[in-house]
Order: sequence, then C-alpha cells, then structure tokens
Amino acid sequence: MKCVYVLNGPNLNLLGMREPATYGAATLADVEEGLRATCTAAQVELVFRQSNHEGDLVSWIQEAGQKRCPVILNAGAYTHTSVAVHDAIRGADAHVIEVHISNVFARESFRHHSTISPVAKGILVGFGTAGYHLALQSLLLNQTKS
Ligand code: DQA
Repeated sequence: MKCVYVLNGPNLNLLGMREPATYGAATLADVEEGLRATCTAAQVELVFRQSNHEGDLVSWIQEAGQKRCPVILNAGAYTHTSVAVHDAIRGADAHVIEVHISNVFARESFRHHSTISPVAKGILVGFGTAGYHLALQSLLLNQTKS
C-alpha cells in the first residue's frame, strides 16, 4: 500500500466541539495528526480531507480509485442518503472501509441504513475516533498478509 485516503463528510470539521458526548473531544486535526504519524512510520502517503459537499466526496473517491489507494470513509450524514457516494465507490472500484465514530445503530432509526455498507470492504462503528486508526491498522495488516 503506497497511499491511503481518509475522507470525511459534512460536519466532521466540527469534531471536538460538536456533540462531545456522542463524538468525543478529539478534533479532526487530532485524528489527522495520529494517522499521519502511523503513515509516516509505514511509509504510506496520507491524503486527509474533509468536505461539507457531497460532490467533493464523489470526486475524491473517484480519484482514490483511479490511483488504487484504499479509502477510509466517514461520509457523515451522506452515509444515510447518498446514492452518488455509493455509485462512486462502485464505479471507481474503490476499496473503502466505512467508519463511524458513534454507534449509529444505538441512535435514531434514520441512521441505521447506510448506502455505503453494501459497497464497503469493512465497517467500523462506535469505536470513537479510534475507528480511523483501527481501519488504518486493518489496511496495513492486510497488506503484509498479501
Ligand atoms: C457519523 C454518524 C452519522 O449518522 C452522522 O450524520 C455523522 C457522523 C459518525 O461518525 O458517527 O455526521 O458518521
């Protein structure tokens, strides 16, 4: 694995101040810093991005797929609504690990459905921001296996 994309959807720029009881105290910059340290040690290029716009996620998933870089994706609320993100993963044949900081299944029923899960390679839900790190570890472990 030469590269990994970590893509974050709407409102994740507010991490650290947004509903801390649900999402914790770490900021997105904290998450990036931790992932970057792991990637540097593993000599993997990290592309870390956030957008509040669905089309940005679509374009970045296409970009990652074209470069054959796996994607750790927290699409935020677009997880529950976006056919476009689903189609981008399929269309670009992107290797996606879906991450959610909170346990979406213990929350409102509208969060129980994901358009991404059927096209994800794996899903990490409810581990807090550690989920991003666990996803990265799974990619690194699987790379040494193959
Ligand atoms: C989230 C869960 C989503 O339901 C929510 O819309 C988010 C964050 C999570 O990381 O727990 O924005 O993806």
